[in-house]
Amino acid sequence: MRIIVDADPGIDDALALYYLRAQADTEIVAIGTVHGNVPVEQATANALRLVERLGLDVPVAMGAAKPLAQPLRTAEDVHGQDGLGGYAGDEAEVVRTDESAAEQIAGLARRNPGTLSLLAIGPLTNVALALQIEPRLPELLGKVVVMGGALNVPGNITSHAEANFWHDPEAADLVLAAGFEDLTIVGLDVTMASHAPQEWLDALPQDCYPRQILGFYADFYGSFLGKKGFVPHDPLAAAILTRPELASYHEDRFAIELTGRYTRGKIVADQRFLAPGSPFGRDVTPERTPAKYATEADHATFLDQLRHAVTQP
Ligand code: BDR
Ligand code: CA
Repeated sequence: MRIIVDADPGIDDALALYYLRAQADTEIVAIGTVHGNVPVEQATANALRLVERLGLDVPVAMGAAKPLAQPLRTAEDVHGQDGLGGYAGDEAEVVRTDESAAEQIAGLARRNPGTLSLLAIGPLTNVALALQIEPRLPELLGKVVVMGGALNVPGNITSHAEANFWHDPEAADLVLAAGFEDLTIVGLDVTMASHAPQEWLDALPQDCYPRQILGFYADFYGSFLGKKGFVPHDPLAAAILTRPELASYHEDRFAIELTGRYTRGKIVADQRFLAPGSPFGRDVTPERTPAKYATEADHATFLDQLRHAVTQP
């Protein structure tokens, strides 16, 4: 599997890169960065640091600095001022490419039709911009996995919205409307259940970089959830991309609420039981191509794989 990663590193974004690096027959072909957890300049500097630390030879392109239709909001309270829990360290020596992350996605998809997968683990601004550059993107890309959404569980940034979709609701809705044939959404319904307890962290070697960056993130999640440990949202999305059999799915047609006073940024679907011949029609985007929404996962197997991935030299 050859993967373009679009990310806002971000502590759990970093873990997703560790996860992908450890998978046999999996290659990260390019990384794009986006505003979200931190401003895009910081996300880009972090992506370059991670590429260097992980020994990856892949281009890093800087993406969108702000959402399509709302002001920039970032999440340093979750990921630290530097986005890597205070452990970003020195600037990388490798430098980013000149093109934008959206141009990189569009260009790679055109040059490699049908062969590349996309893992989007930040706000979807770059993917929405790539669709404007190349409207055939849904046919040119293979599998697309997006981390975002809270369908039948509470949000994590507002009562109803999950952070990645809330950071750019218009972009998320454009992506859901684009007609990707093989789109999987990995939302809080499944990631929150993958909570890694403090013992998981304590079992990592002291000098292991992921253990260092996870300290800040675990403190945040400890105060947020009232229990020690952390939630590996982005690496679970990476796992579900490379090993879809780890999860089970609900297939539906999805939209993002764009106008709700309390619900802006929430993913919605019409989940009513409607008997054949019912006089009611579906009221959420009956015209859209269905996507898969992950509902359950084999969390024990995933957390074992993640431990293996982050402790590899
Ligand atoms: C998502 O928001 C960010 O904080 C994480 O990196 C993840 O992509 C979880 O809601
Ligand atoms: Ca992220």
